[in-house]
Amino acid sequence: MTAVSQEEEQAIVETVQTIVQKHGASLEELIPILNDVNRDLGYLPAAALAEISRLLHVPKSQLFAVSSFYSMLSTKPRGRHIIQFCESAPCHVVGGRQVWETLCANLQLGANETSPDGKWTLATTSCLGLCSVGPVLVIDDDVYGNVRPEQIPDILARYS
Ligand code: FES
Repeated sequence: MTAVSQEEEQAIVETVQTIVQKHGASLEELIPILNDVNRDLGYLPAAALAEISRLLHVPKSQLFAVSSFYSMLSTKPRGRHIIQFCESAPCHVVGGRQVWETLCANLQLGANETSPDGKWTLATTSCLGLCSVGPVLVIDDDVYGNVRPEQIPDILARYS
C-alpha cells in the first residue's frame, strides 16, 4: 500500500466524489467509475477504493477483486506510459519471446513492474485480438504489430 498525506487523501476522496456524482452511485456504474478514477489518479489508491466502497455500498474485498480482474485497473501506482505486451501463444510463436526479452532488457523491468523514475509500467496481457499482426504490444493507446526486437529502442524513444 502506498502512504499518502492527509491532503492527498482529501484530494483523492474529492476526485472519487466528483466521478461518482457524474455516473450516479449505482452498482451498475462500478466499472465506469473505477475506470475514471484509475484514469484521473493513475491508479486506484486505497483511499479511493474506501470512498467508492462507502458511496456504492460495495465491500472493499469486491472492489479489490474487480480491480485485479481488469488489466486496465491497478491498485498500485503505475508509470506515465503503460506497455501491454501480449503473451498469448499465437504472438509467442511468431517471435514474441525475443521481443519480450528485448523489452525487459531495454527497460530493465520484469513483468508488471514499474520503473523507479515512474516512466514505464511493463504489463503482460492475454490476446489483444490482433494475432494476425503478432507479436503485438500496446503503449498507452498506440498499437504496434509485427514487432521485431530491433525496433524496440526506436519505439521506446518515441515516449518522453
Ligand atoms: S495472441 Fe497476441 S494478439 Fe492475439
